[in-house]
Amino acid sequence: MERIIRTPVATPLSEERLAAVMAGMKLGFPVRYFPEIDSTNLQAWRLAGEGAPEGTTVVADTQIRGRGRLNRSWVSPPGANIYASVVLRPRIDPAAAPQLTLLAGVAVAELLSGRLPTGVKIKWPNDILIAGKKVCGILSEMRATAAAIDFIILGIGINVNMDREDFEPSLQETATSLKIAAGASFDRLKVISALFSCLEKWYWIFLARGFPGVREAWLRHADIVGRPIRVVFKKDAQTGVVTGIDADGTLVMKDTEGIVRRVIAGDIHLLKE
Ligand code: BTN
Repeated sequence: MERIIRTPVATPLSEERLAAVMAGMKLGFPVRYFPEIDSTNLQAWRLAGEGAPEGTTVVADTQIRGRGRLNRSWVSPPGANIYASVVLRPRIDPAAAPQLTLLAGVAVAELLSGRLPTGVKIKWPNDILIAGKKVCGILSEMRATAAAIDFIILGIGINVNMDREDFEPSLQETATSLKIAAGASFDRLKVISALFSCLEKWYWIFLARGFPGVREAWLRHADIVGRPIRVVFKKDAQTGVVTGIDADGTLVMKDTEGIVRRVIAGDIHLLKE
């Protein structure tokens, strides 16, 4: 996998430059670049609906309607971060689609860990944290029938060259960037191409071996087994200890009454041990 090269001189993003670094890749090519877009996920969805092949990728410099999980927005200022969405057309059971989000988390965690001075961790299901603060979010959206997936849009947002004061005050305590973690700027073009190499590697492992091929790496990067958590979904909240992750990617916890619960949606909060 290509190393991320930290450099004070960033190469501006453009479709030509992105196409050059992604040429030959199965995911990340063909690539469409937009200086400004509503949301790369929405644009990739439109392209997929028109028949764009697997691997088609949308990258933007800024999003005016960047979208997060649970109908949240994703703050997407220009010139600093990565906003990318890729079209996937896996021939898998639609019920297995959430596993692709976990796979993407492994790819991002692998990309960042070892290249940053502080620990990179996956927070179930789809956040990547550095020193407890969010650096990356992943949003996957699917068009499918009950029997087959038409396409999945896997959208990845990575905070790259944001300084602390660039985040709005409400995010300064909970969000971080590669630059804050490393103390130096990163070349977004190189980070994107390394990201797609990593993503492609884990996608093929997943297609060949299913989630069991990804599970161990996920657990290694997540460091969550044995940790007390609180899961909040809508008005429901459960407290317990994580016992593992199923072969199908479902988080499993034992609640305070000793009942084993499978967590399929919601936000988790790590509790102090
Ligand atoms: C989350 O953590 O809530 C998920 C955030 C996902 C953000 C990315 S940025 C690229 C892609 N386009 C979007 O509108 N959202 C995803």
